[in-house]
Amino acid sequence: MPEKYEIVRKKVLTPDISSISVYEPLIAKKARAGQFVILRASPDGERIPLTVSSVSEELVTVVYQKVGDSTMTLDELNEGECLTDLVGPLGVPTPVEGVKRAAVVGGGLGCAIALPVAKALHDAGAKVDLIGGFRTKDLVILEDEMRAACDTLYICTDDGSYGYNGFTTGKLEELLKAGETYDRVYAIGPLVMMKFVCRLTKPYDLPTIVSMNPIMIDGTGMCGCCRVTVDGKVKFACVDGPDFDGHRIDFDETIARASTYKEFEQRRRAEHKCRLEGMTNG
Ligand SMILES: Cc1cc2nc3c(=O)[nH]c(=O)nc-3n(C[C@H](O)[C@H](O)[C@H](O)COP(=O)(O)OP(=O)(O)OC[C@H]3O[C@@H](n4cnc5c(N)ncnc54)[C@H](O)[C@@H]3O)c2cc1C
Ligand code: FES
Repeated sequence: MPEKYEIVRKKVLTPDISSISVYEPLIAKKARAGQFVILRASPDGERIPLTVSSVSEELVTVVYQKVGDSTMTLDELNEGECLTDLVGPLGVPTPVEGVKRAAVVGGGLGCAIALPVAKALHDAGAKVDLIGGFRTKDLVILEDEMRAACDTLYICTDDGSYGYNGFTTGKLEELLKAGETYDRVYAIGPLVMMKFVCRLTKPYDLPTIVSMNPIMIDGTGMCGCCRVTVDGKVKFACVDGPDFDGHRIDFDETIARASTYKEFEQRRRAEHKCRLEGMTNG
């Protein structure tokens, strides 16, 4: 039997994105679409919130993008090695009840988070259009899994190298103009993409759920770090979300807050790369 928090399977999806399946039967049994875990890759490491992308009986799979120091440290772990700790499932599951026709829009890495949402809707009997957007064909991830989780999959690439030529919002607009009707739209991806999906669906009066991923520390509603403004009121993404009504979110404030630590993060990323290169050079 694997050890607690052991990485049983690791897959490289693109040069920057990998998935790990971790042995944690309790979380695997409880986690629902839209929920996340917080893990540490090393005893002195930062806490990393990652969305549960899929579960099997005993394994929790997360998909991560190497964007900085902590995710690069996580990526240094291989199959057979263990995470330091893993807590979850955290957050409120994505609401899927009562939806008969849905569009799920994922942007880049957001497709890994859109996947369980589409699957939950599909399993609950909804007809699901899944629109997955990527910069280019080489960056497309989880295509087979997404196709299996929906009725119709539309892959979009910004440069037209695969599927629909353009942004996910372009494809969604095309579908809406062609007369497609949905009970609800779910948008998961970069803040700017979610903002423009909401701008598009508002005139159609089409309920739109977005998944907010602000910086989180404790993940239990105590530090206040993950606050977002919804309808003028402060909400904590870790306990009130991460999903919110996209027509009520103050996106501009969230986008401004997301860049607060940019300089510090860039410095840590550069230091991490230097450390790795130092190790390779002997
Ligand atoms: C609820 C939730 C679910 C998430 N799901 C995923 C996922 O499935 N896959 C994935 O690759 N990423 C996910 N993220 C983002 C992921 O947590 C960050 O990319 C990671 O913490 C970056 O750490 P770093 O040290 O490698 O990068 P840094 O250089 O520290 O930061 C790079 C960027 O990551 C974000 N970030 C940094 N620290 C945190 C933090 N503690 N909490 C949230 N965001 C942070 C910031 O936007 C920052 O600009 C999720 C975040 C949240 C809040
Ligand atoms: S992460 Fe601390 S309140 Fe949400």
